[in-house]
Amino acid sequence: MTIVVGVTGGIAAYKAVSVIRSFVLAGHDVHVIATDAALRFVGAPTFEAISRNPLNTDLYEGVSEVRHVGIGKRADLVVIAPATANTIAKIANGIADDLLTNTVLATAAPVLIAPAMHTEMWQNAATQANVRTLRERGITIVGPGTGQLTGADSGPGRMEEPDAIVHAATTLATRRTVRREREASGTASARTPRHDLSGHRIVISAGGTREPLDPVRFLGNRSSGKQGVALAVAARDRGADVVLVAAHLDVPAPDGVEIRSVSTALELQRAVTAAATDADIVVMAAAVADFRPATTNDSKIKKEKVGDSLRLELVANPDILAELASGKQSDQIVVGFAAETERDPHELIELGRRKLKRKGCDFLVINNVGWRTGFSTDDNEVVVLDGHGDIVMEAAGAKASVADRILDVITSA
Ligand code: C5P
Repeated sequence: MTIVVGVTGGIAAYKAVSVIRSFVLAGHDVHVIATDAALRFVGAPTFEAISRNPLNTDLYEGVSEVRHVGIGKRADLVVIAPATANTIAKIANGIADDLLTNTVLATAAPVLIAPAMHTEMWQNAATQANVRTLRERGITIVGPGTGQLTGADSGPGRMEEPDAIVHAATTLATRRTVRREREASGTASARTPRHDLSGHRIVISAGGTREPLDPVRFLGNRSSGKQGVALAVAARDRGADVVLVAAHLDVPAPDGVEIRSVSTALELQRAVTAAATDADIVVMAAAVADFRPATTNDSKIKKEKVGDSLRLELVANPDILAELASGKQSDQIVVGFAAETERDPHELIELGRRKLKRKGCDFLVINNVGWRTGFSTDDNEVVVLDGHGDIVMEAAGAKASVADRILDVITSA
């Protein structure tokens, strides 16, 4: 595909070189547009050598070829990395005073922006409003990450790592292809008439965590990840940017969503917490181990050494859902799951209400699980409580249709 990489004037411009290189090595035709400020950080020969194409900088070069719209029109994907607060502000306001901003205005391709700036600039109300505007228009924002900035300071504002940007860009392009193919075959409109999650970012955890006892054994659970994956697919088809935090899925990870693979509860906590910082919706569908072994043996625990009984000391894992719910921004929606073995329907709901109070989430999806129900099956039966403990939805059927019904509840909140 033809990828336009826009580079703006931040120190992270040197990392753009890795992004460009990864695209080129993956076989894409890469055209770099650098702003004047970007060229103060990285020289034109570097961009030309790495992209294997002439660098584009000047709005007034090649006027006869109408380059200010031509480059954007030919692009299958536009990636701006790093994007400064200034360029983000210009794009949000439709300003086109250089080749890059003209290109963004002229393109019909998906646009991905990787912001990079100091924490104060990122947190400034103007930048936050601009980023919201871009998201609402369907532009994908990747990062920024949190960490050491150029000076001695650290905080959110650091450009996302090149690998993550390339992965998100590939995901975005795949999603567009999947949607186009669906539209061409007519299946998109038959199955998903709505496109109500466009411009929204949703983080979904799925699967079951594993807590290692030694290099070969773990404490785990029977979650297959099917319901979480069905939610990710449904959200993707409804236009959302989806991050799927995947813990040992029994089913293939879907195309067109960003996958972050994890194993333990602590890894899942890190991945979900990082992804949740700029998400509108977080759905904790994963079965997270409540406890982990206090120590993990470096080598296999030997029966000869421990004898006929083995005592395991477990320590509590953090309650990620409760943490997310208590630390969330006011307009974020946090959804939890409660998989319970309680058979009595009335008691099951009461259990759910008590859990909802403990966790403090906006919605709780309750389902009954047992030796033969809930896990691994293709169907599910759920009751959804809102934050007050009122039943707002009940659904039974294929996990795909249950997923759509859950998203209906979330989008109508
Ligand atoms: O308390 P319980 O494990 O039943 O809670 C289930 C809900 O809480 C699920 O949404 C699950 O993803 C989440 N959870 C969590 N952190 C834990 C345990 C569960 O976020 N340590």
